[in-house]
Formats: sequence, C-alpha cells, structure tokens
Amino acid sequence: MSWTVAEHGFDISKVTTNGNKYMTGNGYMGYRGTLEEFTKEQLTAVTLAGLYDKSGEQWREPVNAPNGLFTKLSCNGQPLGVLEADPLSHCQELDFRNAVHRRETEYGFHGGKLTFTAERFVSMDQLHLLAGRLTLHSTADCRLYIETGIDGEVWDINGPHLTERKEQFKAGTALSTAITGELKLPVAVAERAAFTFDVQETAGEGTMRVISFDAKAGETYEWFKYVAVYTGLDNAGDPAAAAEQEVLTAEKAGYEELLKAHCAVWEERWSRCDCRIEGDEAAQFALRYSIYQLLIIAPAESEKVSIPARGLSGQVYKGAVFWDTEMFMLPFFLHSDPRIARNLMMYRIHTLDGARRKAAEYGFLGAFYAWESQDSGDDACTLFNVNDVFTGRPMRTYFRDKQVHISADVVHGIWQYVTFTGDDSLLVDGGAEVIWECARFFYSYAYYNPVKKRYEILDVTGPDEYHERVNNNAFTNALVKETLEIALRVVQLLQDKYPGHYPGLAALFADGPFMGEFNEMLEHFYVPQPDPENLVIEQFDRYFKLEEVALSELKSRVINKNEYWGGGSGLATTTTILKQADVVLMLNLFKASFSKEVKQANWEFYEPRTEHGSSLSPCIYALVAADIGSPDWGYPYFMRTATVDLTGESKQYVGDLYIGGTHPAANGGAWMAAVLGFAGVQFDGEVLRLNPALPGPWQSVELPVILRGGLFRLRISRNEVAVTAAADNREPLAISAFGGGCVLCLPGAKLRLLNSVAASEQERNGQGKFIREEKK
Ligand code: BGC
Repeated sequence: MSWTVAEHGFDISKVTTNGNKYMTGNGYMGYRGTLEEFTKEQLTAVTLAGLYDKSGEQWREPVNAPNGLFTKLSCNGQPLGVLEADPLSHCQELDFRNAVHRRETEYGFHGGKLTFTAERFVSMDQLHLLAGRLTLHSTADCRLYIETGIDGEVWDINGPHLTERKEQFKAGTALSTAITGELKLPVAVAERAAFTFDVQETAGEGTMRVISFDAKAGETYEWFKYVAVYTGLDNAGDPAAAAEQEVLTAEKAGYEELLKAHCAVWEERWSRCDCRIEGDEAAQFALRYSIYQLLIIAPAESEKVSIPARGLSGQVYKGAVFWDTEMFMLPFFLHSDPRIARNLMMYRIHTLDGARRKAAEYGFLGAFYAWESQDSGDDACTLFNVNDVFTGRPMRTYFRDKQVHISADVVHGIWQYVTFTGDDSLLVDGGAEVIWECARFFYSYAYYNPVKKRYEILDVTGPDEYHERVNNNAFTNALVKETLEIALRVVQLLQDKYPGHYPGLAALFADGPFMGEFNEMLEHFYVPQPDPENLVIEQFDRYFKLEEVALSELKSRVINKNEYWGGGSGLATTTTILKQADVVLMLNLFKASFSKEVKQANWEFYEPRTEHGSSLSPCIYALVAADIGSPDWGYPYFMRTATVDLTGESKQYVGDLYIGGTHPAANGGAWMAAVLGFAGVQFDGEVLRLNPALPGPWQSVELPVILRGGLFRLRISRNEVAVTAAADNREPLAISAFGGGCVLCLPGAKLRLLNSVAASEQERNGQGKFIREEKK
C-alpha cells in the first residue's frame, strides 16, 4: 500500500497547490512543498507556530523565517532550475510515512545530462532542525556551481515582519538574525553545508556562498545541509547562539543519524493513529494523507499554540485558530494522542483573558472567544474581512461580532477532553474557569422573551456564514444550552471532587450569575425543534421564508467567480442556500437526541441547499449519512474531504483575498467520517459503542484508540468487531457492538462481538456464533 504522493513532470501552474500538497512540518514550523531553487515568488515559506507580528496597519499574521534550505545550480554558466531550464525529467514526492520530501530533476546541457536530487525533512525529533541531503550526477565532465545558504527574502502577505536583519558567516556557519517589528522578538536561522568532495568556495550575497567544482562524468557528488531556527519565544537563551550550536551538533551527528531519529518518532506517531481500511485503496491513501497533514502541525510540545485554520502552510487567514480546532480536529487527537488534545485545550485556557477583553468590549460578561485567535486571544478578525470584487470596497462582515458559537465550541472541546480522558485536572488547571466564563457570556447575551416565556439567542451568525445576524440559529442555541449544562455539571464535579478548589472558582464570580440563574435559564431555554409535519428543523427564525432557489440556479447568477455570496448584498443572503453544514452539524453533535427519521429528513432537506463553500462542510454530511445507515450517500463527501489537499480543489480566493493553503479541519473531518462515521466508533465517557456502517467496498477498519487512558485496538467489519485491550490498561471498558448489550473488556482481553443478524446467518450455515475470549 503506497505511502507516497508523487508527481512526474514540472507544471508551473501547480507550484502554489504543490506547496500545500508536499508540505512537511513538525508543529513548531511548517515548510511548504516548494523546490530548492524557489524563492518568495513561488511562496516558499518556513512558517513558525505561535509567533505573530503586525506590520504597520496591515493584518497581524505569523512570521515566516528565512529559508535555510535554499540551493540553486548552474552548469558551465547555464542556470539550472525548473523555472529557467526545461528539465528532461522531474519528479517531486513526499513519503508521508516518514515525512521526507524528495525531488529528482534531470537537465540537459551541451554534451551531457545532469541529475540533481534533494531529500529533506523537518525533524520530528529536534523541533528546531531541518536537514537535507543533495546529490549531483553528470554524464559528462562539466563545471558546476552551487549557490546555497539562507534566503532572507521571505514571502509575506502582510509583511515585512523581520527588522534589523543581519546576515553573516561565523566559522563556516551562515547566520541570519532579525527582530520582529511589533513584539521585538529575535528570530535566528543558522545553516551549515557539508560537502563530501573538494570544492572552491566564494562568498555570495548575504548568507549565500557559491561552491564550484569540476564534476567528472559518471561520478555522484553528495552534500548535506543542516538548518536550525530559534526565536525569542523558545526559552533557549540567545536564539542565534542556540541555532549556531544546533547546526554544529547536527553536522557532527550526521544526516543519517538525524534521519533515523526523525523516522523513529514518526513511527511512534503512526503507531498511535494509523487507521487501516481494508478494501479501498483510494480511501486508505487519502485518509492516511489527511492524518499526515494533522501530524505535521500538531503542537506536541507546546500548550501555548493551537492549530491555525491553514495549519502551518503560510500566513493565510492570519495564521489564526478558529472553531475548526475544537469541532473538526480535536476528535482525532482525543482518540490518538490525548497529550496533544490537552495542549490544544490549554491554549484556550491561556487565551481566556483575550476572550474576557472581547466580551467586555461588547458589553457582555464572561468570555467571548476570538473568532480568529492568535497568541493573546484577542480577536484578529476584522470588521471588514472581505473586499467586494465589484467595487473594491471593504464589506462589513459579522464573523467577529456575531459568531458567538465560538465560546460554546471551546466549552464543548474542553468537556470532550474531560469525557474522553477522564483527566479532570484540566478543569482545575483553568478549564472550569473557561467554561464558567463562557456560560456567563451567554447568560448576558441571551434575551428573555416575556411573551413566549423563553430565553432566546438573537442576532448571531451560525456556521452558515452566508446568513448573518439571524435569530435563534438552531446550532448556536443547542450549543449554548450544552454550555449551561456543562457549567452546572462542572460546579457539581468541583464541589464533589475538588472541594478545595471550588471556593476559589466561586469567589471569582461573586458578582455575577450563578447556579440559580443558569438553572432557570435552562428551564426556559429555546432550541428550535423538528417540524411535526416534515421533521425539518428551521435553521433560524424565518429561514423558511427565504427565496427557494436551486444551487445551480444561484450559480448561474454569479458574475465574478470570486464574489462573496454572503454579506449585505451576497447572492445567497436572501435565499435558502447555505455555505456549510449547520443544522446537520448540530444533529451530528447531538445524535442521541434525534431520531433517525429527523436526521434523514434534515439531511435530505439541507444537502441540496448546501453549497459546501467551506471545506468543513462535506465531512458532516458523510458523518450523518453513516449515522442513519446510508454510508454510500456519505462516501463521496468523505472522499471529497479526504482528498482536498491532494487535488488542490478548493476555493483559492474570496473577493480579492487569497485563502489557499492546507485544510486541517477537512483532514480532521476525513478522520471523523471514517472512524466516527463509517466505522461507527462512539464513546460517551462510559460505553464504547461500535455500530459500523461501512461503505460498499470497505471490508473493515482497524485502528488503535486511547479511551480514559487505556489503549484498545479495534477491528471493525460489517459482521464482527474485535477489540484488544492493552495488558497494562488500568480499567475495564464497557463495550457495546451492533446495538447489543454491554460487555466488559478487561485489561489484556480480546473480545470478538458478532453482529447478531450476521451471526444467525452464520449459525444457519454451521459456522459458529458469538464468541467471547476472556483475559488470557
Ligand atoms: C468557514 C468557517 C471556518 C473558516 C476557517 C470559513 O470559510 O466558513 O467555518 O472556520 O473558514 O476554516
């Protein structure tokens, strides 16, 4: 089964999308999938997690470091790069099992052929390190020139961010240092190039050197590059000294050793999460690739950063963290690496003060989380996020002011973490305060309607951003209700389990609403319900009064392919066409509260009205299709989600705003659709339920999961599920499969649970029945 994405031939029109497709990274930094000779014009970027900068009045965005892997060739005076010399052959590939990027390019020159190979990785073992192995092979004698060093001309969308730039060589080490404009934080990149053959070296510009040598026909010439990146956020003393030291140590260790250590960490990461699909190679490939994209951006070592909406693939969307993390990516980490899930949730705890400032700014209590969150938690989202393509004027959008569901999404994430892991220390470490502050925010945001005698949530934007400032958005109301319920449960939990901690929390809110108020609000809280006739839940008040128009008809009204469909005069605003799953997402989150008939009716009603204009949308339709037992409806939505970064088929512009990059929410969505949807893995904190609904070609899904600290290996097929519990699990786990009763899975046990329908079939065929193997 292939673990390699590869492309033969060079196509200039794919440079930008390939930069995403061939990404490497390690959570500390992302390195776009560009080629060695590429510069900022081709969007080469080393994007640093958590380091933001604002240049002048432009949007604040993450800092890109200088590119220490830059390498350019020429032969007998003729420049050789895919952009200037038409290569005889070219191949770019990514081995995503080991996170190693490779290219091989063959150039013709007068009298011979030159083959250039370059392999590189962003070390998962040493987060500040990048390393490369490069070779040249010529069929004829020639004079070769290699220009290599650190390219300080970085790609910025709203830059420049690096001031006081200094470039120098110190005993063979190239060193590029700078200070960020806003926070005055140092950024340092060090690079060493180690040649295994005799070369002549002359100084190039800045931190470039030009290496020249006479290549002999038939010989292969190999060299290595070691690059380290440090910033003032790293607590590593002087970043320049740390970077210099790291490349020296790396060179001593040598490329092979570093690669080995890097691959060992990758092997460990995959052992926690590899998900095998038997019977469908295309789905298998796309799912593994999606998981890879999540692993290269996961903050395994820091609780101060979360995952931006475009991962570490550049500065798009201001490098900001959206609800995408909690609602689309968190489930993957919860099941595979709870340490990372905890880091993601701690990021919200660290940014609580920013959320408090935002709530206060709008005159509310508690915490209103940033729609676009960066390092401090203050909202990076502007009031004018999109430009009108027709007038060029900024359009007023209400993402920042009205997408209040973000605070409920954060609460949902924290509670999911506690439910899955049983680790309620997160609550004591600040999680309870976040939950309570969000509940207070909603208490102050809600209105009591004295006529209808109910609390309502008015003037919001739900997930469907094409309809702004609506009343009683079903998704938002359902999540606000959940926030209040969780807040009350958390108080109970603290009182019972952490009585010492509880008074401190209670004292924080002596002035504000408390249990009585939340209880009362819950008793009279309004969440839109299914229409008794057709079972459809109205997305928000008066949604059914909007113009009914077919999606194809709406598309035919488009004048400019980049025009924004929402906002004041957007095409979709006055119609029932929605941008992305909204009611259907709510049904997915609260699946136990709705019947199959309701889910089906809403799926059928909303799907034709959904543009899927966000990459977050299709996976939700796949999940609900699986839930209602129609996986084949869901399959195309799963494939679309799982291949979004492979095909590059996603929106690149909204108005004149570039929004290209990788799609971590879709990557997480692909995992959710495969595992929580088709394989039917559902854990509620007490019982693991396995109710598969596998699409046509899928024979089985096999994966490890960590639940409540215990490790379980699941193999799920239509007729049978097998669960193997690790011998050192501390507790048994209750498991129910195919809607049957619960069976306790003891540490070290292997269970096989049969689908009773299929089992009776087998019995009739004399093939045995329900088997339960107890602890060995
Ligand atoms: C979607 C949002 C999402 C954002 C970042 C937008 O297009 O509508 O739901 O959070 O992109 O991915």
